Parts: sequence; structure tokens; C-alpha cells
Amino acid sequence: MKTILITGGAGFIGSHVVRLFVNKYPDYNIINLDKLTYAGNLANLKDVESASNYEFVKGDIVDGDFIQKLFEEKQFDGIIHLAAESHVDRSISNPMEFIHTNIVGTVNLLNAARHIWGDQMEGKRFYHISTDEVYGSLGEEGFFTETTAYDPHSPYSASKASSDHLVRAYHDTFGLPTVISNCSNNYGGYQFPEKLIPLFIHNIRNNKPLPVYGKGENVRDWLYVEDHANAIDLIYHKGVIGETYNIGGNNEWKNIDLIKVLCEKMDVKLGREKGTSEKLITYVKDRAGHDLRYAIDSSKIQKELGWEPSLQFEEGIEITINWYVENQDWLDNVTSGDYLKYYEKQYIDR
Ligand code: NAD
Ligand code: TYD
Repeated sequence: MKTILITGGAGFIGSHVVRLFVNKYPDYNIINLDKLTYAGNLANLKDVESASNYEFVKGDIVDGDFIQKLFEEKQFDGIIHLAAESHVDRSISNPMEFIHTNIVGTVNLLNAARHIWGDQMEGKRFYHISTDEVYGSLGEEGFFTETTAYDPHSPYSASKASSDHLVRAYHDTFGLPTVISNCSNNYGGYQFPEKLIPLFIHNIRNNKPLPVYGKGENVRDWLYVEDHANAIDLIYHKGVIGETYNIGGNNEWKNIDLIKVLCEKMDVKLGREKGTSEKLITYVKDRAGHDLRYAIDSSKIQKELGWEPSLQFEEGIEITINWYVENQDWLDNVTSGDYLKYYEKQYIDR
């Protein structure tokens, strides 16, 4: 029986990864370590919480002593590290949280893995989940490959870039069996409604303005979250130690075009007259340091590990819209408290 630590398992992507691993690998003990920040929500894991191969541990990866003790007690065979502060806008208003969790937290995990594994690294694995945002911004053409030089622009992406470098440094210096993947923007159910797609679905439903940053011309490459979870499964098991894999949807959208698709589909879903939701579009002040375009070349993982996205965007966005419309209780529960304060502060002066 292997014991696998998944950090940040109560968050958006983490909850999909925990669900996949708990259901697919009954012979793994899956331990989900999460601080339950505003973005962490155990309701995301209701369907697996009583599985015999699943355990939740509440804790902070920034607390080095706690992490060390947890590793000594559980003797993890593998780590899939997703816990992070993940929202660019929050990193602009409060960078220090990002430095603590994304950088110090990652180093605490690396140190603890080194400590328990010592020279016995055979069969062990430290898998760090990262983002395409570390590569910076593209112009109209080209794609990020695994060898694109890092050029982060937001405190979020700079903190993720820093953690990637540290993971590689622990591989090169101490021989830690690490692997890294950098993925493009994810969408799907259970995403906190501060990110573009769930926020706009929520606002359309509630007839609230849709705050489009700048001219809405920035481009993102969107991947359905379960396709990311499947890639993580593949890389965890088959990825080569010391390597990096880019994961992307080959699915670029200008923000404004994507927003118009959401508006059209929501009009149909809510039985509103065509064009009703588009009237909610409100152009607001641009995000500081806003990267123009992200696009991933995922040919390495496709060729070497045989991964490819299973869903076309048309299908994925339909599933996603249905999920948020059908899970109004989930949305209502998370759009209270800290989130409401954040939302007012974020959008009041724009
Ligand atoms: P999220 O914000 O939804 O979830 C993050 C989780 O980490 C939450 O459950 C939170 O409680 C937990 N957490 C935060 N600080 C912690 C701490 N100090 N100790 C323990 N737990 C803590 O994030 P997400 O969108 O699911 O992203 C997960 C990972 O994937 C991140 O590392 C992110 O950089 C990366 N990523 C995200 C995307 C995306 O589109 N969302 C794309 C590529 C990579
Ligand atoms: P987001 O979901 O925050 O992801 P990221 O910044 O990590 O790519 O934003 C996606 C795009 O949508 C990004 O170009 C910023 C833009 N955006 C808006 O125009 N308005 C909003 O309210 C939000 C949250 C994002």
C-alpha cells in the first residue's frame, strides 16, 4: 500500500486530482493536506470523504515543524504538490501570502521529503504542479515550450517560477526525484468564482456587471480540469524524473470572445432573450502587468506519454456552465464572507 500526499486537495484542481486518485487507486492511501484558505472547500470532496483510502489533514505548508512531523509520521512514498495561492489579482494586492505559501511552503515540503527519504529515493517521487504563467507573455505568435526562458510578471507567477527553480535545484543538488508540469488555464466545476469563467457565470445569473479588464484582448489557452487531472496521473506514474512537461488545451480564446460565448450560452440556459447577458459587459481598468497571451506547446507530453485532451471546448464549456447552474448552493456558500470583502475591494474603483 503506497501513501501519497496531495497538497491543496480541497481547492479547484486538487479536488479533481484527489477524486481521480481515490477512485482509481484503491491500493493507495491518499492524504489530502490543505489549510482550507478561502479557496479550499471540503464540500468539493463530499463524494469521496468517507472512502477507506482517503484521509484529510488540515494544516499549513508554511509551518515547517508541522510538515516535518507529518512526513515522519506518514512516511509518504510520493507527493503531488498543488497547494498554492493561485489568483493573480490577489497577488497584486497582497504579495506576501504568495511568497510564504508558494515559495517557503514548497521548500518546507522539499526539505521534509529529503529528510524522510534520505538515500532511499528508489520508487519515490516529488511532483510539483506549476503554471504556464512562469514563461511570461507571448506576442501574437509562438508557443511556450519546456525550454522557454522564465519571464514572470506578476507576484503570483514570480512566486511559482521561484518554486519551480527550487524544485529543480533540489533535484540537481540533492538528487531528489522531482518532476514538474506547467499547465495552461483550467476550467470546470469547483473553481472559486474569483477566476474569469465561474465569476462571469455567477454574475450573469445574478444580473451583475461583467468586469472585462482593459480591452478584453488578452488571450488564454483553456483546458478542461479533468484533462489536467488525467495528465497529472500520467506524469506522476510515467513522467521521467528531473523532467518538465507542458500541458495545454490547444484552445486559445481572446477574453472578450470567450465572454461572448458565455453570455450567449447563459441566455439560452436561463431562457433570456438573445443579447441580454452581453449588456452586462463593462470594460474596467486593466490588470497591472497584464500578460497579453499564453499558449502552450504540449507536444512533449503528447509524444512521450501519449496524453491528449479528451474534451473539445464546446463540450467542456457546456458541462461547466451546467455544473454551476445546477450547483447554485455551492456557489452561494463560497460567495460569502472573505470573498465578498475581496470582491468589493477589487472592483469598487475600476
Ligand atoms: P486553488 O486556489 O483553487 O486551490 C489552492 C488550494 O491550496 C486551496 O484548497 C487552499 O486552501 C490550499 N492552500 C493555500 N495555501 C495553503 C497553505 N499555506 N497550506 C496548505 N494548503 C494551502 O488553486 P487551483 O486553481 O486549484 O491551483 C492548484 C495548483 O495548480 C496551484 O499550484 C496553481 O499554481 C496550479 N495551476 C493552476 C491553474 C489554474 O488554471 N487554476 C493552471 C495551472 C497551474
Ligand atoms: P483569471 O481567471 O484570473 O486567470 P489568469 O489571470 O491566471 O489567466 O483571468 C483570465 C483572464 O481574464 C485574464 O486575462 C484576466 C481576465 N479577467 C477579466 O477580464 N476580468 C475579471 O474579472 C477576471 C477575474 C479576469
